[in-house]
Order: sequence, then structure tokens, then C-alpha cells
Amino acid sequence: MSDWYARLGPALRRLPAETAHRLALTALEHGLVPAPARGQDPILRVTAFGRELPNPVGLAAGFDKNARVFARMPGLGFGFAEIGGVTPRPQAGNPRPRLFRLEEDRALINRMGFNNDGLDAVAARLGKRRRDGQFLVANLAANADSAEPADDFVVLTRRLAPLVELVVVDVSCPNTANGKVFQRHEPLDDLLTRLAAVRGTTAMALKVSPDLSDAEKADIVSLALEHRIEGMVVANTTVERPSTLRSKARGERGGLSGPPLKEMALKLLGEVYRASAGKLTLIGVGGVESGEDAYQRIRAGATLVQLYTALVYHGPLLIPRIKAELAYLLRRDGFGAVAEAVGADHSLQPA
Ligand SMILES: Cc1cc2nc3c(=O)[nH]c(=O)nc-3n(C[C@H](O)[C@H](O)[C@H](O)COP(=O)(O)O)c2cc1C
Repeated sequence: MSDWYARLGPALRRLPAETAHRLALTALEHGLVPAPARGQDPILRVTAFGRELPNPVGLAAGFDKNARVFARMPGLGFGFAEIGGVTPRPQAGNPRPRLFRLEEDRALINRMGFNNDGLDAVAARLGKRRRDGQFLVANLAANADSAEPADDFVVLTRRLAPLVELVVVDVSCPNTANGKVFQRHEPLDDLLTRLAAVRGTTAMALKVSPDLSDAEKADIVSLALEHRIEGMVVANTTVERPSTLRSKARGERGGLSGPPLKEMALKLLGEVYRASAGKLTLIGVGGVESGEDAYQRIRAGATLVQLYTALVYHGPLLIPRIKAELAYLLRRDGFGAVAEAVGADHSLQPA
């Protein structure tokens, strides 16, 4: 497999970030992807949410918002993919520019505001999906102008849960008025009661913000357990701006992703693992760009990991690299499977 991205990547990165993203999606839609990743290393196989996945490395929400290219993701080597955020009605999102590269920091700031084709279009695409064993996740979001955002999540869950293996309720978007309503106890408690009635047997996870206060963290974890939510995606982008940022665009409003988010996301992941006593299946996301990063998230409590920003800076050949490195690290430390390493850092420490 030649690293075509090594040649194409720099050209793509001279384009405005959103234009480059659109081109990448079009290329993927037309099958312009590296040769399918062959030969899965069996040490990477992992069971999550009751299903077996070929490996724990997934595509994070926001890249394939409209469910156009998820079927290409196994070809890139991803073990699973998340589509969305999807809102009930189509939504234009915020005015452009709304996606910024922070080259020197290998980071992005986005304030997309859930631009997407809406539930009908996405459900139609998912309805045509081949049930070929791919583990697919749908990320749900309320419309920015919705007067009843809880109703939005109910409608989305009812339609999309039967079409995917996991539903993620995003309660952590920094970029729309309704993005964080459900970080508060009462609204989230009510919402989870309503969703339990419509989700059927499909697994459900909450996606949380790295900017939560300690009280909010504890509350969300206990509500998730109380309502028998299976998982948590840790974490969304941050509105913090670490002092280490060097790029000009660091002052842009929106959510920061990529390596500057790494430490925050890792810390929160460990906290959620401890607070839930390992009872939630965790997906570690935020600044993952190497096998070492993936391994660190797994040891901190993640069963699965995801990435988005690293794909922009390193291209798709990063995925096989991460997997090879992760397999090496697992074997180096005497683990026979991903599951054995999940939360390993915690069991080594006295409670
Ligand atoms: C352009 C862009 C759009 C995103 N859209 C969504 C979204 O719609 N829903 C969501 O839950 N997360 C969204 N995210 C957040 C990512 O899924 C992920 O949590 C975050 O970027 C941290 O991972 P990373 O450092 O690997 O990018 C988006 C991120 C980016 C960069």
C-alpha cells in the first residue's frame, strides 16, 4: 500500500479545512481509498456492547456526519465507525469559516454547529446498509433551534437505534445553544427515562465533555448507571485553550481537538472508569494519534478508542500503524488480548 496521503496530504492541507474535508469524503465515496487492510491481528479482537469487533480503533463522530462513507471504514482498517451528529431536521450549521487547522499543534478548532442532512436522509442511507458485521455507531444531537431538545433525542433514537449497533447521545457539544442542556441533573434524568422506553435492545452511550466540573462528572456517571446506559464516550472537544498552543488560530471560538486535548481526555477517562467501577464500556477519544496513545487509553479503562483529528494530519495509513504498534505493546507487556489490558493501570494501584 503506497502512502498516497504523504503526497496528497500537504496539498489537501493547503485548502481551507472544510473544503479538504469535503474532497476527502468525495474521494472515499468513489472508492479512492488505500487497498483494504488485510490480515487482522487476532490479539486486537475485542468484544464490546455484546459484539465482536476486529480491532478497537474507530472513527470518531463528525467526520461522516451524513453516513456517506462509513462502509469504507473497514477498508481503512477501522474496527468500527460512528456517523453523525444527526439532528431530526436538516441543519446548515454555523456560518463559515467554522473549522480551523492549528498546524503547529496538530490540532483543530471547530464550531460547525451540527451541519447535517437530517434524520430522514441519514436513516434512508442506513436503511440500505449491508449487515455485514460492521459495528456502526450513530451519534445523536438536538436541532439548535429546538424548543424541546429531549423530544429530538426521542425521535432520533426511535428511528436510528434499530439501524445501528450503538447509539451515542451527545450531551457535550460546545457549539450550539442546546448542546449542553443535558449536562444538568434533572433534564438528563428525564431524558434517560424517556430514551429507555424507545431504544429497544440497542446499546446506548453518553458522550461527555472534558470541561465538566467534578460534581457534574459524578452526577453523569451515577445517572448513566442508574438508567442502565452501557457506555460512555470520553470525550468531546474542549473550550479550554492550553497555554502550550502555538498556532495563530488558537483564539478562534469552538471546540479544540487533537493532541492538546490528550491529557484532559485521558484524565477524565480514568476518573469515569474509577467512578463507574468498570461497569461502563468506555470509548476513549481526544488526541489519540499513536499506538502508544491507544494503549494508554485502554490501560486507563477504555475498551475502544476513536480518533478524528489525527486523520487530518497523518492520513489513513495511520490506522494500520496504530494497530501494529498497539499489538506490539500488548504483547510486550504480556497481555494476550485487549480485554486483559482494559483498566490495567487502576488494578496496579491501591484503591
Ligand atoms: C470537525 C469536527 C466535527 C465534529 N463533530 C462532532 C459531532 O457532530 N458530534 C460529536 O459527538 N463529536 C463531534 N466531534 C468531536 C469528535 O468526535 C471527537 O470527540 C473530538 O474531535 C476529539 O477527538 P480527536 O482529538 O481525535 O479529534 C467533531 C470533531 C471535529 C474536529
